[in-house]
Amino acid sequence: MYRSNTCGELRLTNVGQTVTLAGWVQKARKMGGMTFVDLRDRYGVTQLAFNEAVDADLCAKANKLGREWVIQITGTVAERSSKNANLPTGEIEIIVSNLEVLSASDVPPFTIEDNTDGGDDIRMQYRYLDLRRPMVRKNLELRHKIAFEVRRYMDERNFLEVETPVLINSTPEGARDFIVPSRMNPGQFYALPQSPQLFKQLLMVSGFDRYFQIVKCFRDEDLRADRQPEFTQIDCEMTFVEQNDVIEMFEGLAKHLFKYVKNIEFAEAFPRMTWADAMKYYGSDKPDIRFGMKFVELKDLTEGGNFVVFDSAPYVAGICAEGCASFTRKQIDQLTDFVKRPQIGAKGLVWVRCEADGSYKSSADKFYSQEQVKSWAERCNAKAGDLILIMAGEMHKTQKQLCELRLELGNQLGLRNKDVFAPLWVIDFPLFEWDDETQRYYAMHHPFTMPNPDDVPMLDSNPGEVRAWAYDMVINGVEVGGGSIRIHNSDLQNKMFSLLGFSEESAMSQFGWLINAFKFGAPPHGGLAFGLDRLVSLFAGLDSIRDCIAFPKNNSGRDVMIDAPSTIAEEQLNELNIKIDLQEKK
Ligand code: AMO
Repeated sequence: MYRSNTCGELRLTNVGQTVTLAGWVQKARKMGGMTFVDLRDRYGVTQLAFNEAVDADLCAKANKLGREWVIQITGTVAERSSKNANLPTGEIEIIVSNLEVLSASDVPPFTIEDNTDGGDDIRMQYRYLDLRRPMVRKNLELRHKIAFEVRRYMDERNFLEVETPVLINSTPEGARDFIVPSRMNPGQFYALPQSPQLFKQLLMVSGFDRYFQIVKCFRDEDLRADRQPEFTQIDCEMTFVEQNDVIEMFEGLAKHLFKYVKNIEFAEAFPRMTWADAMKYYGSDKPDIRFGMKFVELKDLTEGGNFVVFDSAPYVAGICAEGCASFTRKQIDQLTDFVKRPQIGAKGLVWVRCEADGSYKSSADKFYSQEQVKSWAERCNAKAGDLILIMAGEMHKTQKQLCELRLELGNQLGLRNKDVFAPLWVIDFPLFEWDDETQRYYAMHHPFTMPNPDDVPMLDSNPGEVRAWAYDMVINGVEVGGGSIRIHNSDLQNKMFSLLGFSEESAMSQFGWLINAFKFGAPPHGGLAFGLDRLVSLFAGLDSIRDCIAFPKNNSGRDVMIDAPSTIAEEQLNELNIKIDLQEKK
């Protein structure tokens, strides 16, 4: 028996008991004739006491211990004279009678504490040490708890967890694939799944009725705080359902997780917002509705001012920042610089201060009368003391820029509290997305998404206006999940392919197996997938999903701990019939 107890469980009620503990030396300190060692394991920290006067040899042995050594001790639980209220075990210590060193340790490259002195790179290189830090470990415990509760909820509702293959062909999610060469089929490659999308649809054809899987997905995309090249989905699919059935089932899952993981109950249904409204009022398909500051369109009220910035713009809109008329010139200049940053790319912004005496002061005062500016303020519902910020330009671009400004202001004003959760369904996504560069439509979700039947007559005449039966769950401005009702009718599917520019052959060569399967009795079906990493990081209040993944990649897609990706040996390349000829990137 290595231990009788963990380092997190002993209390005053255990005083007098003989115990054996094992763990890592967090720190050791010598105080006169006493040596104290903090012993750490996954469950907590317990103080060990060695008394030179009682056992000089044992104390000398304790004095040689270094940080992160693994030891086993036996001793008696005693009440501490100076208690540590910050530690659950802080009222007791162990008077040690026996000490075994199980494993020595090199001096760790950073301190293994929440407030570590280690920078990002070094912590990633020694991730196994980083994972010893309680805050990182807690994120993984939370991840486990969420995955466990997902399985409980799904199991109770008859969902079956079915594994799908990892070595497959391209899937239709629209990112770049990771590819794997096949030794047995020279010159041919597998693609890693961007999602199990087509397999889960096949499982519906197979009559499985309700499927889910907590599954790794792979996408070769540029990385951001909420994106990893390999990430985990809670992937789900259901048969004989309409959009509302799917939404209710998975709103139920989200509420279950909030209740059993965060102890937060949502009595009301999550609000639903059309994609069109999300863009109109928030400039984003994933609005953060923890705070207001909705966009207000002002173009018609700015006519006739001879202000070229507004006159030349097809779209003029503002947001009202409550109580911000007191912003200094410098603060407003900083906001202007913020929207002018190359990533955002605005030319500037116009501001209106609603003064206490009912007058208005604005950066466009030269062009507009007080009456005109008053009409803007009224439309924005602005009161004395508020600040209106206005941007103008091409509609979509300006909406995106205004969205960034709104989020930045939300941050500055403390309106994006991580302990407040504002879930939302975004529905009625467009079926297609127009791409200016290639001058063609792409599927906004994927080519198997069912058009809203009311809009099917517009498929030929006005495809850009056709709404999809597709939905995203958004929490605090993060898209945590998305899905759709699928097409199960071959004629409609063929029509979609042709609208998306697939020839019959190209559709068959890419998705022939699914198209064929659909000839054998495809039931109506639909589903969705949550991003598990995003859910966990939201629940944990993290800024990046990396912090809830045991062994994540860095922003260049590298695992710096194992140094992957890496070159491979010549023999391996030969076996795969592959010759490397690195081209200069154009
Ligand atoms: P979608 O592409 O919207 O849908 O992905 C579903 C959810 O997965 C998460 N996600 C990611 N998380 C971390 N890193 C990434 N690179 C990443 N990409 C996506 C998001 C997203 O909402 N097959 C469809 C689902 C369906 O239709 O049922 C799909 O994959 O939280």
